[in-house]
Amino acid sequence: MYTKEIERTLAQLAKDLLSHLQQQRLLHSVDETLEALRRVIVYNDWRYYVQSEPVISDYEYDQLFAWLKKLEVENPHLVSADSPTQRVAQGLTKEFITVQHLVPMLSLENSYNADDLIDWDRKARESAGLPEIEYCIEPKFDGASISLIYEDDRLVRGATRGDGIAGEDITTNIKQIRSIPLSASFSKYGIHQIEIRGEVLINKNTFKAFNDKRIAENQPPLANPRNAASGSLRMVDPNEVAKRGLEAFLYHMSYHVMDTGKTEPAEIQTHSGTLDLLSTLGFRSPAKEKKVVKGIQAVIDYCLWFETERDNLPYEIDGMVIKVNDYALQDKLGMTTHHPRWAIAYKFKARQATSKLRHVEFQVGRTGSVTPVAKIDPVHIGGVTVSSISLFNEDVIREKDLKLGDTVLVERAGDVIPYIVKSVDDLRNGTEQPIVFPTHCPVCSDQLVKPEGESVWRCTNINCEAQVVERMIHFVSKDAMDIKSFGESNVRKFFSLGLLKDIPGIYELDFDKIGQLEGFGKKSLTNLQTAIEQSKTQPLHRLIFGLGIRYVGETTAKTLANAVSHIMDLQTWTEEQILTLEDIGPKVAGSIRLFFANHDNIEMLNRLAALGINMANTQSSLPVSGNLTGQTFLFTGTLTKLKRSDAEEMVEQQGGKIVSGVSSKLNFLVVGEEAGSKLEKAKKINTIKILSEDDFLAMIQP
Ligand code: IVH
Repeated sequence: MYTKEIERTLAQLAKDLLSHLQQQRLLHSVDETLEALRRVIVYNDWRYYVQSEPVISDYEYDQLFAWLKKLEVENPHLVSADSPTQRVAQGLTKEFITVQHLVPMLSLENSYNADDLIDWDRKARESAGLPEIEYCIEPKFDGASISLIYEDDRLVRGATRGDGIAGEDITTNIKQIRSIPLSASFSKYGIHQIEIRGEVLINKNTFKAFNDKRIAENQPPLANPRNAASGSLRMVDPNEVAKRGLEAFLYHMSYHVMDTGKTEPAEIQTHSGTLDLLSTLGFRSPAKEKKVVKGIQAVIDYCLWFETERDNLPYEIDGMVIKVNDYALQDKLGMTTHHPRWAIAYKFKARQATSKLRHVEFQVGRTGSVTPVAKIDPVHIGGVTVSSISLFNEDVIREKDLKLGDTVLVERAGDVIPYIVKSVDDLRNGTEQPIVFPTHCPVCSDQLVKPEGESVWRCTNINCEAQVVERMIHFVSKDAMDIKSFGESNVRKFFSLGLLKDIPGIYELDFDKIGQLEGFGKKSLTNLQTAIEQSKTQPLHRLIFGLGIRYVGETTAKTLANAVSHIMDLQTWTEEQILTLEDIGPKVAGSIRLFFANHDNIEMLNRLAALGINMANTQSSLPVSGNLTGQTFLFTGTLTKLKRSDAEEMVEQQGGKIVSGVSSKLNFLVVGEEAGSKLEKAKKINTIKILSEDDFLAMIQP
């Protein structure tokens, strides 16, 4: 679609537009400016969402987009239906109307091994009367299938698969997917109307960030990217859909009508040609991932090789699809009532298995939350043995109607933690028992409470042994005080032997006694001693995070550490004062206040201080010179490649400073996904440079 020359022209056009914008001038006329803005924005959408290689910064893009919007508001008669602004939706969808597909969406026959494929190829060759067939192989995307209709180059309808005959009209939501063009030059190839099919996905990183957020908010995570994608497509608020970061691959032309008098171009005589054409027209298709081969052995080889690459892909695939490449031959082979004879899915090794749910353990976390954990007969899924699965909270047990003795379907997709998909009702025999949620703490027997509006039961006894142990495990952990050779098992061991009772006790361990324990040679003892000693000088934010104050994550811990010169300063801070800090709301502020108002906690901090643990904000010990010396940074929105705390540490390591709010003192605002008011505020201050996460990464590279 874009030759090198056109790309160069568009790059120049983007520059011209930006400089005209700065001088508040139009190109020549409003018409011409609108046209140029649209071309540049559509091109940059393609670079960003289809090619994953942006050529202008997010900030520049946002400026151009805002200009386009402004001009269209001022000149409503010049708004075109395929203007990039038309993706933006107003209002909620009341109901999704059922629509017929132009051609039924059939499913594919499955194969699981080389023999299945050899068998399928033999039948196809016999039926075609050919010694060898040319196949096109591509990934089988594990998302939600969609069908799109373009008429006279315009996207006129997007629908879900539904029952294959009819689906739901989700055009407005489809328009929120920026890799799907609102218009595409099919007419150049003589195509008047076309129905194309594909799969909507959420990539693994976006999915993980989304679930991390849910877990932090005490909501059960979504099961897998596939469910997240199909759920997102049916959301009633298109603006929410836009925030989900959906992507789409288009892989099948199911129907087309040529313009009168036009014959089919060579590009659409074969499946691989169609994938290339879709890619040329600006769609994301598996044009690069596909492979055209002759004979089934080459198919098998490619499938086996691709399976080894599965975990390296940014999105989930659950197999490969093998299609007869030549459309004329596809027609000759035809279809059964269920699936085409010219295509077959090769399914990768299952990441699902069934097992028996034997019992449910109730684990008490460091904040007293009681989490049900299903204990199942060990099963092997995708290379690991699974025997324990978190059920998150009581609601999950109820929603999935789980019973002890049930046969359960377990899934473990890629990096996703294993989860129970459902219980297999048909295999119940009446002996299954209900799962009874305890009313009292399984460790200290205190009565459990569930605050109004929450889904988690809690033990409120802060001296509950389970909480004490979990707090110590948290304190020594990697993101907190990072006491390397300590770890969960040593905390549990020392606690059970009475050698360790509380957090300060970590610095008072009797190493003579530990030296007598099995498994503690001289070397491991020295390692442990050194690691404990070294942790005394950890920066203040690690100590604050390590204390395990409810709702205080790594970022809040840093904000707090940066706001004081000594931890004890917080003892005198009022809730109002805490609320003035960046990103701290009433819930978090209340919890911090409660922690520092508690006598036991203050006593613990005094003991730690007496034991020589750093309690001061030692920012001055940071490098005084580095690439970023004297520069201030602030991060906003969700970063997808870096953890925010790591990114902040990178800045500090190079001599830069993290500040807590947008002001003229800020030099760089690094903007992640779903950035909000800070970005808006920063845009109004000329001296602040706005960076995307990628810009930041490029800048920080040594
Ligand atoms: S071709 C008539 N190609 O797998 C054949 N399907 O059971 C049309 N899928 O419902 C489908 N990746 O949602 C095709 N590269 C691919 C695919 C693919 C995923 C899904 C699709 C379909 C199901 C088949």
